[in-house]
Amino acid sequence: MGKNLASKAPLADQPQTAYWEVASKYWRDIATVNPKWAWDSYYSNLIPDETSRILVMGVTNGSFMELIKRFKPHAWVCGIDLSPGMLKMAISTGNEVICCRGDCLPFEDGSFDIVLSDYFLSVIQEDVLDQTVREIDRVLKKGGSFIAKELRDRGHLVLWSASSLACGLLGVSALVVYPPVSWVFFTLSGLALLTYNPTAHTMGKSARIAKFLLHLMRFVLRRKKIPVLTEMRDIFFISEKYLHIFTDKELYGAFEPYSLEIRTEVTAFSWNFSVIGVKQ
Ligand SMILES: C[S@@+](CC[C@H](N)C(=O)[O-])C[C@H]1O[C@@H](n2cnc3c(N)ncnc32)[C@H](O)[C@@H]1O
Repeated sequence: MGKNLASKAPLADQPQTAYWEVASKYWRDIATVNPKWAWDSYYSNLIPDETSRILVMGVTNGSFMELIKRFKPHAWVCGIDLSPGMLKMAISTGNEVICCRGDCLPFEDGSFDIVLSDYFLSVIQEDVLDQTVREIDRVLKKGGSFIAKELRDRGHLVLWSASSLACGLLGVSALVVYPPVSWVFFTLSGLALLTYNPTAHTMGKSARIAKFLLHLMRFVLRRKKIPVLTEMRDIFFISEKYLHIFTDKELYGAFEPYSLEIRTEVTAFSWNFSVIGVKQ
């Protein structure tokens, strides 16, 4: 359907394609995203039963699309993703998906009632953010909704400062009670401090170590085996994901030029940003 705008920019030129291709090999075992929880807690109430056309940005293994189809049986649900590995998994369970980048959508103007972005804007590169939002705006019909859930700096700031402060205080208490263990808490405090970079709004250096350990643990528990060297290397590679953590100003700024009206936002210190834009 529509013109294939994706042909303008070959997918191989997308620096993140390599990352997501490797991630797709492990996604089922290591994914920390839980589509069922996201659906129950957020999306299910926002999509009217009579919605006829829904676009999902970044489909991973397609489980989020399956939920939408199950609970909104009247809707035509289509998804896009730049990773052939992810798309293969999504297609295997009968989803309709297209291989393209979010900033070059191969659809006519006004094709969808709803566009969903579940941790999608947070993982794309910063330099394609504006064009991606512009494309979402273009393919939405008038009165259609853009529903997003992305990472938000307030929640990260709270967790980042609280965890490093708590470990620091435990270190000081240990100095009084039992000094030999105080260095453990001071080290943890330092690592917690480095998990988030509040000026760049990205994950900090030690976040990679924490993610690597988490991924490794999930791999071992789910595959019930110790990773071989190449798997270990892959897991280390995918632990260094660029994640953009939005400030309120940034996210609203990205939406501003594009006839989208921000409607709701969940609690003040939420870890996530929940936004619904209605196209005017
Ligand atoms: C964090 S996942 C989204 C999680 C998803 N909501 C779920 O429930 O599984 C991001 C997805 O977007 C895809 N992706 C990343 N950058 C992209 C881009 N610029 N264009 C299209 N897809 C992209 C990745 O391949 C990946 O499948």
